[in-house]
Amino acid sequence: MFVEVAKTKEITVGNMKHVKAEEYEILIANVDGNYYAVSDRCGHMSASLSLGRLDGNIVTCPLHSSEFDVTTGKLISGPVLESLPEIECLPEEYKKLNRERRKLIEATNTYDLIIYELKVESDKILVKI
Ligand code: FES
Repeated sequence: MFVEVAKTKEITVGNMKHVKAEEYEILIANVDGNYYAVSDRCGHMSASLSLGRLDGNIVTCPLHSSEFDVTTGKLISGPVLESLPEIECLPEEYKKLNRERRKLIEATNTYDLIIYELKVESDKILVKI
């Protein structure tokens, strides 16, 4: 079943928006005037991708910088774990904690995004759920 999730004017070219359709959290992206719908949960650790950055057809996760193609849902790269030089100034127990955190993040698989069928009718964006 298709449900209306937004009006076209709400998502201009190069922008994206979080919408909810029933229990599904969906990201709608406008890439060069075409709309795409993917899960708004990162395939790594479920961060909200709509809080990240959209550059062309690539959305970057705000948490660990995984990149996904919003036109296909495919993982392009990541996650990326930045090494902060300030960490070297911290006590050993914090450094150890940080190493454990990195191991956990690296050990977590990253999956492609679910894609949703989308159609535009007049000024309405509808997704199939
Ligand atoms: S939650 Fe998105 S890259 Fe980790």
